[in-house]
Order: sequence, then C-alpha cells, then structure tokens
Amino acid sequence: MHDLSIQRLLTDQFRALNESDCAPDIYSWLVDETSMTARLEAYCQKLEVTIVKEGFFSEHALTPDEHELVVGDAENTRFWLREVQLLAGGEPWLAGRTVIPESSLQGPEASLMALGTRPLGHYLFQSSSLCRDFLTPGTMSGLFARRSLLRLANKPLLLTEIFLPASPLHRLLAKGSLPCILQPLQK
Ligand code: PHB
Repeated sequence: MHDLSIQRLLTDQFRALNESDCAPDIYSWLVDETSMTARLEAYCQKLEVTIVKEGFFSEHALTPDEHELVVGDAENTRFWLREVQLLAGGEPWLAGRTVIPESSLQGPEASLMALGTRPLGHYLFQSSSLCRDFLTPGTMSGLFARRSLLRLANKPLLLTEIFLPASPLHRLLAKGSLPCILQPLQK
C-alpha cells in the first residue's frame, strides 16, 4: 500500500466498537493484550516492519482525538511520531501509528527513537514497567482497528493499529466464516 494512503488511513476517524458489534473471534484479536506482532507471526514465516514516517513533529501533526488523549501536559510541544506497516510475504497486514510525547522519551525510553525496523512490541513487552491505561477496539475507514494508551515507567504513548485487508483477521471475514455486522472490506 502506498505511504500516502497508509498515512491517510492512520489519521482517519477512530470509531469505537462494542463487544456486541462483532463476532467473538474478531473481538479476541482486537482486545488481545499480548504482542500483536507475536500473534501475526504465528500466521507467516516472516513479518517485516517498514517505516512510513518517523521523527519529531509539533502538536499540529496530531489528530484531534490524539491531541485530547496525549497532550494534556503543557510542557510537551514536540511528539515522536512513528508510522509503520507490517508486511508478511510482501503483503501489508497491519498499519501502526505511535505518538510519544517528548517527555516520555527521557531515560531508557529514549531508545524508542532508535527502533528502526525492530517491531515496537519487542521493545514494549520486554519492559518490566509496561502498563496499559486502556485498549479500545474500533474501526477506521471500515477496517478493524484498536487504540491503546500504554505507559512505560508511567510515561504515556498512544498506539493505533489498523488491520489491513490482507491480514489474517480480514481474510477470515472474507471467507465468510466469521459473520459480523460490519462490512470491513468496503472501500
Ligand atoms: C511498530 O514497530 O511501530 C509496530 C509494530 C507492531 C504493531 C504496531 C506498531 O502491532
């Protein structure tokens, strides 16, 4: 998928879903609190991260709901933004966008800026100071998505993940094995 369409997808409106809005198997993917990278790796030989956009940006680069969820703190004028695609066999399975206030990058968390193509989850899930304020299942542009506010050593970061049409989750739906009231493959 082109970088521009990925960027547009990742900044689209996030719409929260209730458990009753989708089939239990789908819901289990959306609220899985373990590493999504590890879950996807079980369905392919190799999962690769490609960087779509990464660097420091001002708060103007944030969407209104990201702004509401992570700004709060007046001392933050810059945010580390990381947008990636996860590819399996060359097919894009997941798009991820992480927003990290500059104040969350102090101390050991500065290494979040040096992840490169190492999946974020590999860093997060080996940390003993990781906790989660919330994990909200939802949709963005008609695709299943989820949004988490995580904390490392109590410092917040916001992660938005979108399951792309080629992902195992959407493939199951396309086969019709998991009925859902949503039509996630709509353009
Ligand atoms: C990332 O490396 O930024 C990343 C990896 C896997 C995800 C989300 C983000 O599920």
